[in-house]
Amino acid sequence: MERMIDCVLFGASGDLALSKLIPSIYRCTKEGHVSLQSRLFFCARSQSGFENMHKNVKDALYRYLQEEEKDEKAMAAFLDCVIPIQVDITDKSSFKQLKSQLTTQSNPTRVFYLAIPPGHYAQVARVLHDQQLITESTRLVVEKPIGSDLTSSESINDALATVFSEQQIFRIDHYLGKETVQNLLAMRFGNSLFERFWDADAIDHIQISINERVGVKGRVDYYEGIGALKDMVQNHLLQLLCLIAMESPNELTPESIHREKIKVLKALRPLTGESVNENTVRAQYVAGGQNNQMESGYLEDTELSESTTETFVAIKAHINSWTWSKVPFYLRTGKRLSKQRAEIVIQFKDVALSLYPEQQLQANRLVIQLQPEERLRLHMMAKDRESLSTELKPVVLDLNFLEQKGSYRSFAYKRLFLDAVDGNRSLFMHRDEVAAAWQWIDPIATQWNKTHDLHLYRAGTDGPEAADGLINADGRAWFESE
Ligand code: BG6
Repeated sequence: MERMIDCVLFGASGDLALSKLIPSIYRCTKEGHVSLQSRLFFCARSQSGFENMHKNVKDALYRYLQEEEKDEKAMAAFLDCVIPIQVDITDKSSFKQLKSQLTTQSNPTRVFYLAIPPGHYAQVARVLHDQQLITESTRLVVEKPIGSDLTSSESINDALATVFSEQQIFRIDHYLGKETVQNLLAMRFGNSLFERFWDADAIDHIQISINERVGVKGRVDYYEGIGALKDMVQNHLLQLLCLIAMESPNELTPESIHREKIKVLKALRPLTGESVNENTVRAQYVAGGQNNQMESGYLEDTELSESTTETFVAIKAHINSWTWSKVPFYLRTGKRLSKQRAEIVIQFKDVALSLYPEQQLQANRLVIQLQPEERLRLHMMAKDRESLSTELKPVVLDLNFLEQKGSYRSFAYKRLFLDAVDGNRSLFMHRDEVAAAWQWIDPIATQWNKTHDLHLYRAGTDGPEAADGLINADGRAWFESE
């Protein structure tokens, strides 16, 4: 289906827009999901951003697209849809040109995409309203994190709600657009196999890790003072936790899904005061190396003389519900770690009685990998075919989505952009989810500000020893897949 849209992208010269959004909108036009009759108003604040828009967009396509996606003709056609606009979002009068261009002719769907700091969301929404640019078919797409705590996020959401209905607001968490994350729902609710074992009777514990190789170079303005707890845990990790822990929705409507996710977030056992110190670890990377290659530390990357911003977090969380109260969820995320790995590990319990007393049986484990590859792996015990006696060895049932579909790769932003255009809110966050997530995060941040130690870890390692200590204390260990 070809969609005719008018898309207004604020922050089009920014890193997020150039590296993720613009390549994904190009994919939409190249693959025929979005018509080439569409108009893409790419807004920049500076004169140079405005004058160089076509060049910057073209460079970004060359830089961020995969080789096989670079098609000169398709890129030229895409660039023809791009209309650079100079707008200073703090200055109402600068919206005039946008208004006159937008309203001279109109495509059926209008999308305002705010790839700008959340502190400006309310202001932009107000101007769009005052300039009468919001039509019935308008959607507003906003990036995370919404605010930096519950109070600021509520005030942003209140301001948006004065001019947009909740149905028109699309709060992005790009992890929800990843193919494996959607497959998680399909796996749980499209099969009867796992759901029967999806509780404390069968599951020992759950790990959710998003480990990154990259540091924060180039993003210091955004990252300093925000840190991993607010940048990653408040949204991506808690959203993944919701999809693992939520009950089956009655139907796959956005309302039912949001309702179930909100229940999980509200049931998170609060961590406050001393329990924050016992159940969390925060750390920052210092210079270190892998394969004789030294990598700089956070302070060098940010050119700061001191900072207590954490680039690593590990948390032991619990959900207060009959199904989950006895199952710990270990959450972990960090930058400049040894490997790029995002995965969820469902660790099942040991067999009730071992009939192979001589042998070391490993309990079943389901590993849902989101990065670097999108795959599901079920770790099981099976008889070793090469041995005449009944010897068991661990084997892995491997479902690799990449192999299944040849060179197919999923692009979260493409999927989410099209969903927003189509008005499908299932994979976006409801404002109550955002609020419930902040409600759990705020006391952790408050306690950290008061007392908590900031551990250090070397770049290129698996994080601070204290993070191992957190899980080892329970007789468990982080699972590191190859
Ligand atoms: C973003 C964070 O939301 O997600 C970044 O702001 C992080 O700090 C990124 O690097 C990770 O996304 P992905 O898809 O590369 O794992």
